[in-house]
Amino acid sequence: MPSLNDIRSTFLDFFARNGHTPVASSPLVPRNDPTLMFVNSGMVQFKNVFTGVEHRDYKRATTAQKCVRAGGKHNDLDNVGYTARHHTFFEMLGNFSFGDYFKESAIPYAWELLTKDFAIPKDKLLVTVYHTDDEAAEIWKKVAGLPDERIIRIPTNDNFWQMGPTGPCGPCTEIFFDHGEHIPGGPPGSPDEDGDRFIEIWNLVFMQNEQFEDGSMVPLPNQSIDTGMGLERIGALLQGKHDNYDTDLMRSLIEASAHATSTDPDGTGRVHHRVIADHLRSTSFLIADGVMPSNDGRGYVLRRIMRRAMRHAHLLGAKDPVMYRLVPALLRQMGAAYPELGRAQALIEETLKLEETRFKQTLDRGLRLLDDELSRLPSGGALPGEAAFRLYDTYGFPLDLTQDALREKGLTVDVAGFEAAMAEQKAKARASWAGSGETKDAAIWFDIAEATGATEFLGYDTEVAEGQILALVADGKRTAEAGQGEAVQIVLNQTPFYAESGGQVGDTGMLSTESGKARITETRKSQGVFIHFAEVTEGKILPGQGAALTVDHARRSAIRANHSATHLLNEALRNTLGQHIAQRGSLNAPDRLRFDFSHTKAVTADEMAAVESEINAMIRQDGAVETRIMTPDDARAIGAQALFGEKYGDEVRVVSMGTQAGTGKGLDGQTYSLELCGGTHVARLGEIGLCVLLSDSASSAGVRRIEALTGQRALDWLAEERRRLAAVSEVVKAPAAELADRVKALMDERRALQNEVAQLRRELAMGGGASGGAEAREIGGVKFVAQVLTGVSGKDLPALIDEMKARLGSGAVLLIADTGAKPAVAAGVTADLTDRLSAVDIVKAAAAALGGKGGGGRPDLAQAGGADAGQAEAAIAAAEAVLAAQETV
Ligand code: SER
Repeated sequence: MPSLNDIRSTFLDFFARNGHTPVASSPLVPRNDPTLMFVNSGMVQFKNVFTGVEHRDYKRATTAQKCVRAGGKHNDLDNVGYTARHHTFFEMLGNFSFGDYFKESAIPYAWELLTKDFAIPKDKLLVTVYHTDDEAAEIWKKVAGLPDERIIRIPTNDNFWQMGPTGPCGPCTEIFFDHGEHIPGGPPGSPDEDGDRFIEIWNLVFMQNEQFEDGSMVPLPNQSIDTGMGLERIGALLQGKHDNYDTDLMRSLIEASAHATSTDPDGTGRVHHRVIADHLRSTSFLIADGVMPSNDGRGYVLRRIMRRAMRHAHLLGAKDPVMYRLVPALLRQMGAAYPELGRAQALIEETLKLEETRFKQTLDRGLRLLDDELSRLPSGGALPGEAAFRLYDTYGFPLDLTQDALREKGLTVDVAGFEAAMAEQKAKARASWAGSGETKDAAIWFDIAEATGATEFLGYDTEVAEGQILALVADGKRTAEAGQGEAVQIVLNQTPFYAESGGQVGDTGMLSTESGKARITETRKSQGVFIHFAEVTEGKILPGQGAALTVDHARRSAIRANHSATHLLNEALRNTLGQHIAQRGSLNAPDRLRFDFSHTKAVTADEMAAVESEINAMIRQDGAVETRIMTPDDARAIGAQALFGEKYGDEVRVVSMGTQAGTGKGLDGQTYSLELCGGTHVARLGEIGLCVLLSDSASSAGVRRIEALTGQRALDWLAEERRRLAAVSEVVKAPAAELADRVKALMDERRALQNEVAQLRRELAMGGGASGGAEAREIGGVKFVAQVLTGVSGKDLPALIDEMKARLGSGAVLLIADTGAKPAVAAGVTADLTDRLSAVDIVKAAAAALGGKGGGGRPDLAQAGGADAGQAEAAIAAAEAVLAAQETV
């Protein structure tokens, strides 16, 4: 009996043999379609190829595509567990032709695979065609030899396939398997077609039209083929089972669930195991593709599926979390075909465990409340909406979980009442928000958030995605269109653009719709709504349009590197300066990073070097950067750094980087850096390339600031430094390695020369040599020398006075520096005479004669300034008068 894994391979091999390129499944979150919640068929990743917008280097492809149908248009959640063929997760096998072959080959391929490779008896098969599609009916007749009664014409949309409200579409032909007369049910198109006898196994779509928003449908440039066959269905058929859950793959998951809960797989817990097996697949694959449980959008669909499964585990009597323990069983079955499961195993297990642990805290009480309510309900009644809302709001019961619980008892929920209670709560939130003193400008974002819900951020995983424009805002008001040259703020249902927060600047990039283009210059957020600040550069853009969104990749890469380097810097600072280091602020821009931290002293050059070296050692270690979702308490328990005073929600992202023995941090006890952070980061530390610390400065009291560069900018900075060094080397004629010695030697030489010049100047000024100079005269019993000097300045005078005094041995000196401008004058008296003669008196007299004022100093040395050097003779005379006067005293 072929396993599901064998059947998948047989299918892909068959089409590969027939010239089809095997293409990997796309992620479950559609990046090229904003109108879809999850990828729900194989053609989604090729949507733009069918419409001719995108070209691939192959014209035939084959895939096994992961699909989720829960939430949104195709929603199978309610029935899963109770029926034979409903799943939230399934695999769709498909073959595709992009303008290559059409009906004439698609039908023979399908027939050959089914009847030869899969060896299904021909007489068990029948087909449907769209009622006007004579061509397809003819081909079936010719190729398969089917009689007319087994080629059924269907006039309804069942045989006209549409992906959604817009996009490529076309008539289809469906292949059915007849399980035999013993099973009730009629052929397709008959009144009892919903019975289980005739089961659709393969849908072949003849893509030939495109449906537009305005209702028009136009022919596609190329006629193409899109087929889809659910692996679980064909698997059941080929394994001789009637129920998809009896296939080898699903059965092994059911048994794992039974084993983990020590219950009978086929006993009273049968439905519970089926729910768990199905939901294990959808939740694990969604988490592997980057969806995290949340209270909005895709994250809420994931949470609903998880909680639904967890209630069923609870009903099996499980006291502890169960789902995460089943992940290894899923990996054994599907890990080889989908390697992303293995890569994300830790994340899947942790996320499931966290959600189940937290939900368990309210599940018991919620179920008690529910039982209480039910005991008061008449049979066949409906649970009041208000009670369902309380279960939702207080106990975390999604509405469909409550409905699922009631279904077993044949009861329903008053959904209108539930919605009324929800609306009332929103009105209260609005009233309290209006009273919270928020600015009027913010009111528009509150309104939009209320109408559209929070924006889904896709930018942890991708920089390119499509989103749907939900609102345009210009000048604080909603607007119906924005034309070329206009500035507008754009809100989308989902976006890869990061909105400024946590020190990381917002993304910039491009947006384009079918009617226009806009440059996104800034992204911010308010009330969970991402606001794209844009300028329309071409045509116009309108609300409701799908928009291709492209983040400026080079800029985002640089921001990412800087943000990751900031985490390394934080940790290296703590290791070098001490554990008191706490982050006080940061900036992660494309061109640099800035980090403010508590520390009272300047960081020394040696400390800076040690920090820089540690950061770069981590970069070279090139460890993976990993993100986990935890409660803030769990995050702190494993040593994560949180921002002081920051408010965190119920769940936080925890980013771990690098490995170092003995840190005691992280799940492995040797994580280097572990921080709560909502920013975007490199995948591996090596991407940072290089980190250079530029400066340490004081930011405010007790807070230091370090600026740094990474990657190419760090390299550019080093190159510039090297150029500067080379220029200096060139000037002083020494290699860089000897520059310091050479410059020091030059400085020493310079100082020696300066001294020598000063000495020579003095000597020159005083007439040259030790013997030269003016004659001393004796006045009033004191030897006196007076001289007018040129070529010296006032500041040279004290040294010259000292020298003259030394030569005189005992006496008084007056020197006038004729500088060309204002003269300077100084007087000196040897120590033996200062008790009867003061240099201050002499200089004052001389300065007065020179037209100056004042004069000051000590009795042995005094200085003053004059105005007119022409009065030098008079100044000398005035000094002589002071000397003469002292004798008479
Ligand atoms: N798109 C079609 C389907 O989902 C065929 O792949 O059924």
